[in-house]
Amino acid sequence: MKIMIIQGPNLNMLGVRDPKIYGNITLQTIHENIQKHAEQMNIEVDFFQSNFEGEIVDKIQECLGQYNGIIINPAAYSHTSVAIRDAISSVNLPTIEVHISNIYTREDFRHKSITAAVCAGMITGFGPMSYHLALQGLSQILGEIQAIQQAQAQAQTMQQN
Ligand code: DQA
Repeated sequence: MKIMIIQGPNLNMLGVRDPKIYGNITLQTIHENIQKHAEQMNIEVDFFQSNFEGEIVDKIQECLGQYNGIIINPAAYSHTSVAIRDAISSVNLPTIEVHISNIYTREDFRHKSITAAVCAGMITGFGPMSYHLALQGLSQILGEIQAIQQAQAQAQTMQQN
């Protein structure tokens, strides 16, 4: 199982950026912890961070045929980007949206996520733990998809015999 983790703008500033909201942990440490968790779950993970909307769109498109699912924190683009939303729905890969902070307890403009509507689910407000919950949720979804595909393949072989 292979999952791509995509981080949007300003998340490279974690550790320095608004520590009262995001804590002191750096993106590198978050990624190291996700990597450890993923290894325990027998999941391969890759990481990508960009401050550029188009680069995020490109990366989502590149996931097609290469990854089983996506975990994405589109950061500020969650609230503005139709392009990222369209990219997520184009590749049609199970995707979980993550937010470190609880976007619903913050400014009004953060209450709406344009991108979450095309994701399988959204996790918000658990700090860096949000990524780990997303990993668990996505692995569950991918396991269910795999089971359905296996059952379908089995039914097909039985039909042929
Ligand atoms: C964020 C929430 C967004 O509103 C904000 O623009 C971010 C980070 C979060 O992880 O809590 O950059 O996505």
